Amino acid sequence: MPTVLITGAASGIGRDTARLFAQAGWQCVLVDYNAQALQQLGQSLPRPASAEHVLRCTDLTDAAQLASLGEGLPALDALLNNAGMSDASNTPLAEQSPQQAARLLALNLGAPAAVVDACGSVLKPGARIVNVSSGAGLHAIPWRGLYSPSKAGLIAQSRALAQVRPEWCVTVLCPGFVKTELVAGLIEAGRINPERAVAKIPLGRMASPDEMAQALFFLASAGAAPLSGQVLAVNGGSSIYGGSQAFAPATLEVLPLDMPLQLEVLGGAVEPWQAVAPKLESSGPHYGACLDLSPLHCEGSLLQAVHEAAIRFANRHAQQASLTLLLPPERAGRWQDAGDGAAARMLVSTLACEWGARALRINALEMPPQATPQSMHALLRYVCGPTAQYVTGQTLTCRAIGAGQAR
Ligand code: NAI
Repeated sequence: MPTVLITGAASGIGRDTARLFAQAGWQCVLVDYNAQALQQLGQSLPRPASAEHVLRCTDLTDAAQLASLGEGLPALDALLNNAGMSDASNTPLAEQSPQQAARLLALNLGAPAAVVDACGSVLKPGARIVNVSSGAGLHAIPWRGLYSPSKAGLIAQSRALAQVRPEWCVTVLCPGFVKTELVAGLIEAGRINPERAVAKIPLGRMASPDEMAQALFFLASAGAAPLSGQVLAVNGGSSIYGGSQAFAPATLEVLPLDMPLQLEVLGGAVEPWQAVAPKLESSGPHYGACLDLSPLHCEGSLLQAVHEAAIRFANRHAQQASLTLLLPPERAGRWQDAGDGAAARMLVSTLACEWGARALRINALEMPPQATPQSMHALLRYVCGPTAQYVTGQTLTCRAIGAGQAR
């Protein structure tokens, strides 16, 4: 039975994530300082087969409580640093003293490192550590105190941890705008204008908390191993958009996240990749996806290979489908050719912006040298499939791992 520790589990994204893990049979160690909400959650979860969930009422900004967090815990397969806070005071930064922001920094940047330190001895070899940052860690969001700086710091800290502990898989989730109960309430009360909120999101909608839970569930699995050191932005494409035009709210309903995946593999030796998704027996409702290998094998311009793959896909899919491209690792070569790879990656992002209104997604995976298809299957299943319906415009750089490491 796998075991996960989730901080900030008592509400929002953390609570939905805890439910998903418990439903999947994981033993959960749930950490939060809201004792009442934690108890309620613990009682509502399905119980694991041969153990109890563990509830830890801990203030993650308190050094003494943090230091003893690891005591008596079961061995952990995954650790999710999800707890975080924003600054709602509306006080300009130049009017804030460092002391004022100390609690936010302690929770958003100090606690994730302290939790890993405290749990180091119970983390299994090959454990997955996921730090929940934010789109605010990728682009500055003003009037929220040190929220953006703290989340940018968390991304850098995660990359550094991935470097020094290559035996772990350390990743970052950057959620976009999530329609938690709190946000839904603010919309209902007229305090958030939903049209303005989605204007910079190519997919034209907010995420459901379940989509974040699914992303965390994938990142906590052994299949995420090729992504160690990477940021997974689950934000409908908001972080790749640089235009000034407002996107219209989505008109297409999100497809069920558990819809069967129908995957077509094109552009090379397809056979070792076909096992990503079993062939569907029936022609019932399915989520259409294409995995195109041609950029990986192209000998000429990568930009042109990506463009051709995109045209092929757009001719076959009108809406609600995904295109995933495999790219070669960045090659050292003549400086005159150095723009080709960057242009190809920016083309992926640009296409995502143009296709968003039709919920057509496009993402690319930069393969490491000597990658085995098997080691990429779980990652591809996630990126191509319906649980990643809020992931678009991303190029993820993968690291090489042993065949047995990612299942
Ligand atoms: P939330 O406010 O609904 O839940 C945060 C949880 O952390 C609560 O249960 C709270 O009791 C707990 N917590 C707060 N301070 C604590 C402390 N000192 N010690 C222990 N527990 C503490 O937050 P939400 O919206 O679910 O966000 C979760 C994470 O996702 C945060 O890191 C947030 O920054 C990030 N995020 C959320 C987005 C959204 O749209 N909801 C967007 C981008 C990032």
